[in-house]
Amino acid sequence: MRAKARRSRRKGVVVTIDGPAASGKSTVSRLVANKLKFLYIDTGAMYRALTLAAMEQGVDLKDEEALINLISQIRIDLKNDQKNNLRVILDERDVTKKIRTPRVTAQVFYVARAAGVRKEIVKLQRKIARGKKAVVEGRDIGTIVFPKAGKKFYLDADFKERAKRRYRQLREKGIVPPTLKRLEQEILKRDNYDVTRKVAPLRLAEDATYIDTTNLNINEVVDAVLSYII
Ligand code: DC
Repeated sequence: MRAKARRSRRKGVVVTIDGPAASGKSTVSRLVANKLKFLYIDTGAMYRALTLAAMEQGVDLKDEEALINLISQIRIDLKNDQKNNLRVILDERDVTKKIRTPRVTAQVFYVARAAGVRKEIVKLQRKIARGKKAVVEGRDIGTIVFPKAGKKFYLDADFKERAKRRYRQLREKGIVPPTLKRLEQEILKRDNYDVTRKVAPLRLAEDATYIDTTNLNINEVVDAVLSYII
């Protein structure tokens, strides 16, 4: 049994893509996964889905034990459609849109900061990727979740550029964006939180390729990432 588990792990190939908020990780990860015909795993979506479940079920987001208990009662599935667009399924319900609302975004840090919760979610992430070929994006993927991954990337961009991208993205989705200044402040706040939190902070893995995307468009970033893989 153990030998079999080892074999199936060996067959898996993981590309990790970490970086701060609005660095273009999701789009790039999805396109790279598309190109390679790999599974695309958005780990932030899992923290978001748990946050949504807790909010809907009235679970106290500050109660770590209750959150851990909730994980054992719900089912979070990530499904890729044919274009590798990610559908996030919570207990058979498609919550892809719901997990992106400002309410969930504002509360997800409660879930992401809890060590016991992360331990369970990381187990789930490893289980989803086991034996597969996958592009996995997040904050701690190259450092903690898949420290032995063969290809690791860290995407970064100047915070003003990231605020502009977020602004455009919201408009494209038909959402009236806050002012650019406000978005810049939000991004700096999230950066500070991601980098300084005690558990699994955002860090550049020693063996990761750092790509500054400030002056690159999406296709250029995708090509840059692929040039290190293929
Ligand atoms: O990438 P995102 O904005 O969807 O992530 C949502 C939240 O989850 C964000 O607060 C960072 C956190 N997160 C994390 O702590 N670890 C990950 N691997 C992915 C996301």
